Amino acid sequence: MVKVQQEGDVVDLILEQHKQIRQLFSRVVHTEGEERARTFEELTHLLEIHEQAEERVVHPVTKDVARGVAEARVHEEDEAKKMLKQLKKMGPDADGFDDLFQQLKHAVDEHATQEQREEFPKLREKCDEDQLREMAEKFRKVQATGDGRRKR
Ligand SMILES: [Fe+2]
Ligand SMILES: [Fe+2]
Repeated sequence: MVKVQQEGDVVDLILEQHKQIRQLFSRVVHTEGEERARTFEELTHLLEIHEQAEERVVHPVTKDVARGVAEARVHEEDEAKKMLKQLKKMGPDADGFDDLFQQLKHAVDEHATQEQREEFPKLREKCDEDQLREMAEKFRKVQATGDGRRKR
């Protein structure tokens, strides 16, 4: 099951989850059968709650100081969601799964790199340590309860 880190500020928490996400992507590539299906499910769940919490807790704060940066990240998340939805529908044994999965892996990797390179420095500039810890609390809460679905 996905473990959510209990300490640190919101950036630490997200960096840890990016690492978990990358590991799960690579495990899906290197496993097969039931283990692969289970790992894909775990990855799907983590990706969904990760992006949901970022959309609820992180990007709105970035938007105040760097609107374009926040909007670009949300756009990438929307694109990834479409791919993930399609992959879930196909299932890991389907023809074409591997190609689309590689595309998603690449897109999510790029996306996480952009967050780390572009977005988090802005966040650290804007918020002090208390605010970043408070955001970590909220982030965990959203992930635990599924609260805060983005309104469209
Ligand atoms: Fe994200
Ligand atoms: Fe992220």
